[in-house]
Amino acid sequence: LDITQLLLDDHQEQRRLFSILEQIDRTDTNSLRVVWNRLSTFLEVHAEAEERIFYPALLALGRGDLEGHDPRHETLDAIRDHNDIRDSIAAVAGEAVGSAAWYKAIAAVNEANSDHMAEEEREGMTDFRLHVDRERRHELAVAFISFEVDHVEGVEAEDKDPKRYLDEHA
Ligand SMILES: [Fe+2]
Ligand SMILES: [Fe+2]
Repeated sequence: LDITQLLLDDHQEQRRLFSILEQIDRTDTNSLRVVWNRLSTFLEVHAEAEERIFYPALLALGRGDLEGHDPRHETLDAIRDHNDIRDSIAAVAGEAVGSAAWYKAIAAVNEANSDHMAEEEREGMTDFRLHVDRERRHELAVAFISFEVDHVEGVEAEDKDPKRYLDEHA
């Protein structure tokens, strides 16, 4: 296994669920609700698993030989992005499922999440493939999938202070 591949697979699943939401009839509020429940739960578990397993390991790389890349900076960005994604998910709850305002709130989550995934794929995950050996990537993958499976029903959504996160994990 390779944690960077698991992250990529999760991102693909997130894109898939957003695209499924777009194709459900707007009056089918029950289907919209259950698919959104699954997607929002998954987004939160994925972010929490990254914060527990992926970003501490990224920070452990230090900056040394990572030409132009700084794991501390990438991690700060990611924690801020995860907070934005959580806040945008929370904003959906205030809207009636299937209403114009609900779709607008979902679109805001999709935008925050896709911007974040693109950055994560370009930066942290690339650093990882280049600088972390296969054995370690396997170990982290097992920890990552175990956390996700163990929390398949969800985690408490909790914003993290980016600077404090860095102090605790760097
Ligand atoms: Fe992330
Ligand atoms: Fe991610």
